[in-house]
Amino acid sequence: MTSTEQQPFLSIRDLRVHFSTEDGIVKAVDGLTFDLAKGKTLGIVGESGSGKSVTNLTILGLHDRDRTRIDGEIVLDGQDLLATSERQLERLRGNKMSMIFQDALASLSPYHTIGKQISETYRKHTGASRLEARHRAIEMLRRVGIPQPDVRVDDYPHQFSGGMRQRAMIAMALVCDPELLIADEPTTALDVTVQAQIMDLLKDLQQEFGTAIIFITHDLGVIADIADDVLVMYGGRCVERGTKEEVLRTPQHPYTLGLMNSMPSLDGPVDVPLSPIPGSPPSLLNPPSGCRFHPRCAFAEKVPGGLCSGESPVLEVVDGRGSACHLPKEQRSELFADFAGTRHN
Ligand SMILES: Nc1ncnc2c1ncn2[C@@H]1O[C@H](COP(=O)(O)OP(=O)(O)OP(=O)(O)O)[C@@H](O)[C@H]1O
Ligand code: SF4
Ligand SMILES: [Mg+2]
Repeated sequence: MTSTEQQPFLSIRDLRVHFSTEDGIVKAVDGLTFDLAKGKTLGIVGESGSGKSVTNLTILGLHDRDRTRIDGEIVLDGQDLLATSERQLERLRGNKMSMIFQDALASLSPYHTIGKQISETYRKHTGASRLEARHRAIEMLRRVGIPQPDVRVDDYPHQFSGGMRQRAMIAMALVCDPELLIADEPTTALDVTVQAQIMDLLKDLQQEFGTAIIFITHDLGVIADIADDVLVMYGGRCVERGTKEEVLRTPQHPYTLGLMNSMPSLDGPVDVPLSPIPGSPPSLLNPPSGCRFHPRCAFAEKVPGGLCSGESPVLEVVDGRGSACHLPKEQRSELFADFAGTRHN
């Protein structure tokens, strides 16, 4: 996002993903714009139902096609993905772009060995021989830290622990050196130690291959560890973006501030009480008028004229930094400091 390259590696412009349901149109993603450069990690953070997974499944072309309307632009390395056939997309998946999910068991087949699954992915995209692909699978398992990879390659997924399965899925996702890796809460189900190991692994692999990574998480601590840039989503829209330092040190949107206050401080005292954001995420069938965050926002009353409930704030982005809020910029730091002060007293 902060890249000054003329043509970013991945460019998303005004993306809208709307689902037709019996109850009406679900506006799961509603006007999302961002860029990602090679070798960089974009963290996408937001509460449940904010549109994080739908955004990324749409990039991969894995969305539910029958009842979905997609508008906007997704361009990967100069290729317009929304104009790409399903067949071509299938070729790109696993090869140019791939994804790791929260639940490795759901992504791995229980009927085939880990090695077979990794090597078949490799063969499908490279045409390598069985033997070459087996060597490659062992090599990938070794790289992701599986002990005795030449033996464990013949194990089935149920013979691996949760952390090892997650590593195996990463090995499968990376076996063709994808240029874009989308990681959707890949460490949420794991204990803290394994989580840290997997994050280190992703960082190492990124350094080695220059992979661009989109990392989706609820956890700002994970963002602080792995991301270069951050995009905060609320109700299908981006409410704030910037570099990790900008967003985490000087949040400009009340929702980002709310997220930070609802999580243990990254570097502050451990005894500060947490304050969850009141209320719940908006319905995407019938989103609130104006700013979608207004029913939950502690600052809406500071904006005169009912603007917050009447008019949708525009996301203004300058040099990759921006937020969508009606509060005057010059008042935010003072208001936000007071808010944090109230909480800590
Ligand atoms: N195929 C679909 N049909 C209708 N609605 C859908 C469909 N897929 C997702 N949605 C809705 O779109 C919204 C965004 O969902 P999404 O899975 O992207 O959220 P998320 O931010 O990834 O949440 P979580 O953190 O819980 O994974 C949700 O309200 C979800 O119910
Ligand atoms: S626009 Fe209003 S309701 Fe929305 S975040 Fe800003 S102050 Fe809160
Ligand atoms: Mg999700």
